[in-house]
Amino acid sequence: MDWHQYELERERQLANARDHAASIPLEEIDVGHWDLMRNDTIWPYFERLRREVPIYHHKNSIVGPFWSVTNYNLIKAIDSDAAQFSSEPTIGLNEVSQQESASSFISMDNPEHAVQRKAVAPVAGPRNLAALEPNIRERVVGILDSLPIGETFNWVDRVSVELTTQMLATLFDFPFEDRCKLTRWSDISTSPRKAGLWDTLEERQRELDECLEYMTRLRNERVNNPDGLDLLTMLAHNEGTRDMSPVQFLGNILLLIVGGNDTTRNSISGGVLAMNRYPEEFEKVKADRSKIPNAVAEIIRWQTPLAFMRRTTATDVEIDGTVIPEGERVLMWYASGNRDESVFENADVLNIDRPNARQHLSFGFGVHRCMGNRVAELQLRILWEEMLGRYSRIEVVGEPVRAISNFVRSEVARMMQVDTTEIQV
Ligand code: HEM
Repeated sequence: MDWHQYELERERQLANARDHAASIPLEEIDVGHWDLMRNDTIWPYFERLRREVPIYHHKNSIVGPFWSVTNYNLIKAIDSDAAQFSSEPTIGLNEVSQQESASSFISMDNPEHAVQRKAVAPVAGPRNLAALEPNIRERVVGILDSLPIGETFNWVDRVSVELTTQMLATLFDFPFEDRCKLTRWSDISTSPRKAGLWDTLEERQRELDECLEYMTRLRNERVNNPDGLDLLTMLAHNEGTRDMSPVQFLGNILLLIVGGNDTTRNSISGGVLAMNRYPEEFEKVKADRSKIPNAVAEIIRWQTPLAFMRRTTATDVEIDGTVIPEGERVLMWYASGNRDESVFENADVLNIDRPNARQHLSFGFGVHRCMGNRVAELQLRILWEEMLGRYSRIEVVGEPVRAISNFVRSEVARMMQVDTTEIQV
């Protein structure tokens, strides 16, 4: 299917979803079903939940019972209340993600969370960012220079995956020639069995054990050199992390790989897709490159690379007149909060001039707010600066292929065929 047919078909499916979302009983709405995300038809269901029951108990979801929080202010309130809404035992929904995330600091409450976060936070601090900028630009230029002009290619593989993998290799100071292992480990740890990357849990574990072995070797090599600015050196030397168990070490390594991988990758692909869906926005940013930083924030809002974070009630909690009992799974749907019309006017549409684009929820809020947000923004800003300096047209020409997930908003995670025209000087 070409891009235009795809867009028409998507509009048709969305119109059907609007009718369906408006007509079914509330208890039949299941925003946990990955098909809604995969088909990009989840929006009318969120819209109804926001309007009628912004805190809603799904009793019959395909992923088991959970509560949905869909309105912007309630999401912020819950994300700010780590005492009553715990990140333990996991911030994901399914038992596979629980295995690893249970041992990384994103799935811990304070004080333990704060100790481990502090150990690695400098990697995304101002000193490192300044050092990273020329490095990222050089890599962006290298990647763009290698692309064909006027010929169709897969943008996801050639740009989004390549750039994020190179960035991860830099953050870990990981052997460059082996960098595709990082992407593989990330994909293995986040993909459900049905995605086809692994068949049995043993097979999956074997690959993750390889990750543990490789990273442990690198960390041990750095024990005698405390000066590195990379994540492994930081983990090896910080008092709070140097004696972590192998399970915790692997959990945190996977958090750092996954945190920076799918999210940034899908913001890169999603941005190109959004500019194709709203070509007037592309023209605006092309005409005035000072708009790039706000365009980056708006792309991250519009894409919302992680659809939700889960919390678990530490006690019975009353919020907005509803009591959620202790021990329940509560999903803060950032994807829905970012489309909340009471905060973002015309929220479904990409608008690079949106005055409050930066107030999006895509990086979360509160003590777990994304640690790598500045790294991601830096990478996207440089990429758009370099892209706009060389292309007058970046056209999606084929049907984008999405991954199966209700968590990673990977609208274009696998494949996006793109054709470009070079600026004539
Ligand atoms: C557009 C790109 C990104 C998005 C949308 C994103 C999104 C998020 C979200 C939603 C959270 C949880 C926030 C919460 O619970 O309140 C998070 C946490 C985190 N992110 Fe990101 N992220 C991105 C890029 C990155 C990068 C590049 C890195 C690594 C350098 C990274 C590392 C982390 C880490 C370590 C955490 C855990 C923080 C904690 O628990 O204290 N992220 N991210």
